[in-house]
Amino acid sequence: VKPQIAAIIPAAGSGLRLAADDGATGPPKALRRLAGETLLRHAVHCIEHVADEIVVAAPSELVAQITAELAPIRKPVRVVVGGSTRQESVRRALGQVKGTAAFVLVHDAARPMVPPDVVDRVLAALTAGAVAVVPAVPVSDSLRQVGEEGASTALDRHRVRAVQTPQGFRAATLRAAHEQAPDEQATDDASLVERLGEPVTLVEGDLRGFKITRAIDLVVAESLARRQR
Ligand code: C5P
Repeated sequence: VKPQIAAIIPAAGSGLRLAADDGATGPPKALRRLAGETLLRHAVHCIEHVADEIVVAAPSELVAQITAELAPIRKPVRVVVGGSTRQESVRRALGQVKGTAAFVLVHDAARPMVPPDVVDRVLAALTAGAVAVVPAVPVSDSLRQVGEEGASTALDRHRVRAVQTPQGFRAATLRAAHEQAPDEQATDDASLVERLGEPVTLVEGDLRGFKITRAIDLVVAESLARRQR
């Protein structure tokens, strides 16, 4: 039998950096529009072809609106109230994932343009036996690690990768990672799994998997989305 795949979409962020850029005129980030569709709808489209169920973590005041927004999706969708950090939002959503799920994909609502082959690479690695899978891309900028009082040292950019989503996990491993996480500091799920001593497998990401964080990201994504049509 085909292993069941659940998708979690953390969409409960307030988009403070985006709001700061454009004077807080827009709606919360997940409901910003790109080529006529919300970021959340785009993000769901990225993973719905492989998901047997989808759980979205939404800001509490938007649960009804987001439930309505996702009503046309032809997969079982649940919307839960997110937390004050991404990690807590994912943990709450994970609590609603069916016990029968073998694999869980966690995909940021803020990454609307991830092409299907990235999702396929993540799943292929899981099917081949990986415990935790992360799509990653090289970084273009030279990097410096900053310390106290303005001190900084160069990092070799060839030895770092920028991490994207969807990240894929064996369901039991992701549950254990979130149960044992000591704090709320993790900015992604693979770093929690790594704390369990489990290996993290990298697969090739895609430049289109970038995260919408600042206003300039929306400009780039809008252009990509229009070209895609
Ligand atoms: O804050 P950051 O840019 O890392 O957010 C990545 C994703 O996590 C976004 O899709 C955002 O909506 C989500 N998030 C969340 N709950 C929070 C903070 C962020 O679901 N409290």
